Amino acid sequence: MSAQLLDGKVMAAELEEELKKRVEALAQKGYTPGLTVILVGDDPASQTYVSNKEKACARLGIRSRTLRMPADTTQETLEAAIHEANADPSVNGILVQLPLPRHLDGDRALSLILPEKDVDGFHDINAGRLSRGLDCVVACTPKGALHMLKRAGIPISGKEAVVVGRSNIVGKPMALLLLQENATVTICHSRTVDLAAHTRRADILVAAIGKPRFITADMVKEGAVVVDVGINRVDGKLCGDVDFEPVSQKASYITPVPGGVGKMTIAMLMDNTVAAAEKAAAAL
Ligand code: GUN
Repeated sequence: MSAQLLDGKVMAAELEEELKKRVEALAQKGYTPGLTVILVGDDPASQTYVSNKEKACARLGIRSRTLRMPADTTQETLEAAIHEANADPSVNGILVQLPLPRHLDGDRALSLILPEKDVDGFHDINAGRLSRGLDCVVACTPKGALHMLKRAGIPISGKEAVVVGRSNIVGKPMALLLLQENATVTICHSRTVDLAAHTRRADILVAAIGKPRFITADMVKEGAVVVDVGINRVDGKLCGDVDFEPVSQKASYITPVPGGVGKMTIAMLMDNTVAAAEKAAAAL
């Protein structure tokens, strides 16, 4: 079997067309959505992500502002920038790019962002509401991955879903979203005993580990849907957490890297920003 590609480029472009219409509708009312990104330090991967976010904002007519801060920025300065963006009515979304330099307390910083401006869905209130199945801002990467499954018409209810990775950014919210869709969900992690025994049971397998080509074909069930959230650089080339070629011979659907979930993450950030702007505009 050769898997069908879940194409993030195509799906993100489709979403952008819808978002453009929503931004235009806001413009008709004289409202422009605004996103502030806070980038501390000079991590090369973070620079690339932030520049892609800026480009997406420009394509859609979202006003974006990036606060580039030096690696030795103090907690106090970072928090002051967050408070300022919280108080600025032209800012609908605030994103603090992770990872932060080690001397900074990221959890504390994220908890200071107003939950309604937390377009990453990382605030305790949004994470907590997601866990209770309440309306909230959902983290962009898992939201994008779920969108891909739904857009392709892949059934989720009653399926065995296995998420490998338990991060707050991807693994945990991904598992909660799949649970909300009535999948039977297992979360595996670095201490899981006999990982392959779990992954081989998966109808839907989500790899969010951060290790290049970690999921090999022998770990995948024939006909499984494989969602690769990894973005790793090996010899200067991007690859995912899934050993793509052999796994795509076994899977029914697979997301590529690049051009898969990564594209959806940005689209969902734009979606969360426009949604925050729509709520703010409606409250005027
Ligand atoms: N670093 C890696 N992924 C993300 C993300 O989705 N949001 C933020 N803020 N930082 C990240």
